[in-house]
Amino acid sequence: MFPSEVYVERRKRLKQQIGSGMILFLGNDESPMNYRDNGYHYRQDSSFLYYFGLDFPGLAALIDVDADEETLFGDDYTIDQIVWMGPQPTIRERGETCGVANTVPAKQLGNALQNALHQERRIHFLPQYRAENLLRLEALLGLHPRRINDYVSESLIMAVAAQRSVKSDLELAEIEHALEITREMHVTAMQMTRPGVYEREVAGRMEGIALAHGGRVAYPVIFSVRGETLHNHFHGNQMQQGELALNDSGAENPNFYCGDITRTIPVGGTFSPRQREIYLAVYAALEKCLQAVKSGVKFRDIYLLACRSLFDDLKALGLMKGDAAEGVAAGAHGIFFQCGVGHMIGMDVHDMEGLGEQYVGYDDTVQRSSQFGMCYLRLAKALQPGYVVAVEPGVYFIPQLIDRWRAERKFAEFINYDKFETYKGFGGVRIEDNVVVTESGCRILGPAIPKTLDEVEALAGT
Ligand code: GLY
Ligand code: MN
Ligand code: MN
Repeated sequence: MFPSEVYVERRKRLKQQIGSGMILFLGNDESPMNYRDNGYHYRQDSSFLYYFGLDFPGLAALIDVDADEETLFGDDYTIDQIVWMGPQPTIRERGETCGVANTVPAKQLGNALQNALHQERRIHFLPQYRAENLLRLEALLGLHPRRINDYVSESLIMAVAAQRSVKSDLELAEIEHALEITREMHVTAMQMTRPGVYEREVAGRMEGIALAHGGRVAYPVIFSVRGETLHNHFHGNQMQQGELALNDSGAENPNFYCGDITRTIPVGGTFSPRQREIYLAVYAALEKCLQAVKSGVKFRDIYLLACRSLFDDLKALGLMKGDAAEGVAAGAHGIFFQCGVGHMIGMDVHDMEGLGEQYVGYDDTVQRSSQFGMCYLRLAKALQPGYVVAVEPGVYFIPQLIDRWRAERKFAEFINYDKFETYKGFGGVRIEDNVVVTESGCRILGPAIPKTLDEVEALAGT
């Protein structure tokens, strides 16, 4: 947790932005795995963490913007809870750590909200993504759970998104810490990648590293020789000589900030000539994107830059044909690059995606495309100094997609399907870095993590 002044200052700015009304923040509660007292790993809501820093279930906060009053709702532990869970700070003490002096029992939230509703005060709240909180809001506001997200406050979403998007130096230091842990995970994975080892052994070791540093993994580990599946969470394959293992994994540090790094590793220690060619194409696309990222540039243009670069390099290999700009404009690159080229990172690995991508990744100047591939862009709008983004081009040979498009003769003027046939089983290559945007460019965050062909080969299987 940061010093209390950090949270006081963040709330002060939010109040200035919102101007009037009440702002309601719900913390997350425990979520049972199979019975009430055996829960999933507890994770506080990131916006609650951003404004209050308190990593405990059972909390809510109400800000009366007009009266400039902030109230934290929560209960002290009963003696029975202390017996099972140990002594805990009181709600008053918790309030002090985030600069909220007014603390009251949780059950008073209902009355406070009813009073506000009777006075026809506006109650601003954020989109809800947990069933428990939808039910809480049903009880508090009398709205049907299925309709609650129709009543969210757009002005609150936009104010929170704008504030959380620009990372302070304190936050950048936290992300760099997460990336130090992430580096240890990736270096260990490279060393463990050899024929005969199961993916789960590597995935488990990486998760252990994240836990040992006092945090956890920022998202489910992707470590797979079937790297063409974009979010592949299966870890049951035994790695074979000559395969590629794609490792997309990152730590969440003890203060809840994330790293999100991908490296692709040859099983057996050396890339085959064909693997080298595709690896170099992805590496070149990443380099071009990193050169181009800077304040004012639309992230959609970074995506298009990656697409054209990959198209040209795959054309040189005989996989694509025709003009790269035309092929990309038509959407033919979807045969090898089916997703966006990155997203914001912060306390959520896809930062603030729960607030709605249209508020975080888009604005009046950029509309979402309906084109296959481009429709998945999580971030398209112009970058600003202080944005932290993942940049992650890749090439993925998905046999089912190749078959489908070939049968439809889709983009046959741009795609050499006979050549693509020969890449079935190749897998996928993704290389992902995390950067902070500056006025004049960007800076790669965290320590260097082996990335060139030579660096990766030097570590693989050692
Ligand atoms: N780790 C998920 C992603 O790169 O988007
Ligand atoms: Mn990733
Ligand atoms: Mn990512």
